[in-house]
Formats: sequence, structure tokens, C-alpha cells
Amino acid sequence: MATTQEDKAFVLWFTGLSGSGKSTLADRVYDELSANGNRIEKLDGDVLRGIFPATGFTKDDRDEHIRRVGFLASMLEKHGVIVVASFISPYKEARNFVRQRCGNFIEVYVSTSLDECRRRDVKGLYKRADAGEIKNFTGIDDPYEEPENAEIVVNTEGLSIDESVAVIINALKDLK
Ligand SMILES: Nc1ncnc2c1ncn2[C@@H]1O[C@H](COP(=O)(O)OP(=O)(O)O)[C@@H](O)[C@H]1O
Ligand SMILES: [Mg+2]
Repeated sequence: MATTQEDKAFVLWFTGLSGSGKSTLADRVYDELSANGNRIEKLDGDVLRGIFPATGFTKDDRDEHIRRVGFLASMLEKHGVIVVASFISPYKEARNFVRQRCGNFIEVYVSTSLDECRRRDVKGLYKRADAGEIKNFTGIDDPYEEPENAEIVVNTEGLSIDESVAVIINALKDLK
């Protein structure tokens, strides 16, 4: 039987601390997979938070946000679209909710340490959180529940972006 686009679809779900490298790597992996002519969509936390009705950063709000985007991801996947999703998604239960909705959920844990994320401080958010200007900041005064059974784990410390992308693409080849 010929392989259809529907058979190829999956949800590649990046989770990790702010500044760990989720968006950077998701963008690059998206570019690589697009080059093969796949139908593919990218869902990123910062973008989606601006589009969906406003949610904050309490546990209930974060869960609500992940339920919405997870539902969207599963609908796209059902119609044969590869989904590259990047969300802090700090709670195991919410990630598992999405996993259960999806046909082929591939969790990518970007395991960059808090120290390294703080050192990078790409958006200056750690500085503001340390100063008490931002509350409920993941890793500081809000939890991050590490995935225990992620299909792919990439610690970007000591790796170039190219090397990190290669870890993910190679792991994907083994999984497919
Ligand atoms: N190996 C690597 N992989 C991904 N990002 C890296 C790597 N090394 C350094 N970085 C840098 O780390 C930062 C990650 O930021 P970003 O992708 O916005 O994180 P997140 O989306 O997880 O908040 C970027 O400035 C990126 O250039
Ligand atoms: Mg990001």
C-alpha cells in the first residue's frame, strides 16, 4: 500500500525551560522537514499566546493553554500535517494530555540547565524574575516537571545549534 501523507504525520513537541533552545531548534527542524515537501505547521508558545484568548501563568492557565494548543496540534496531525510545537509546557499531566490526543506524539526534552538558561537570558526575563518583577516564572518560583520518558533528549550545552539539530533529526530517523 502506498504511504500517504496521513501515515507520515506526527507531533514533535519541544518542552524545556525558557531560553533552553526550543524555538531555535523547532525553527531549524521545521526548515529541514519542509525541504522534503512535507505538509507541516509550526506552533510556538510566544506566537500562540498572542492569538488565543489571553491566559496567564498560574497552573490552571498554563494547563488551559496547553489543552488548547494540544487540541489544535492533534487536529492538524489527524489531517496529515506534521506539527512542530514549542511550549515550555512545564506540567507532566498537561503534556500527557496532548500525548494521548495525538496519534504519534514525539516529545523532545530540551534539557539545557537552569544555570545555562539564566546565563543566556535571551529575553532578559531571568533578570526580571530574579528582581521579582515577574511572578510564576518557570524554574524560579514555578515548577518544571522534567519528562521521564521523552523520545528525544537534547542538552544544548556544549553543542552548536547545528549539532543540536542533528541530534534531533537523527533520532527522528530512528523513530520513523
Ligand atoms: N545548541 C543550541 N541549540 C539551541 N539554542 C542554542 C544553542 N546554543 C546556544 N543557543 C542559544 O540559546 C538561545 C535559545 O533561545 P530560544 O530558542 O528562544 O529558547 P526557548 O524558545 O526555549 O525559550 C538562543 O539565543 C540560541 O542562539
Ligand atoms: Mg521560545
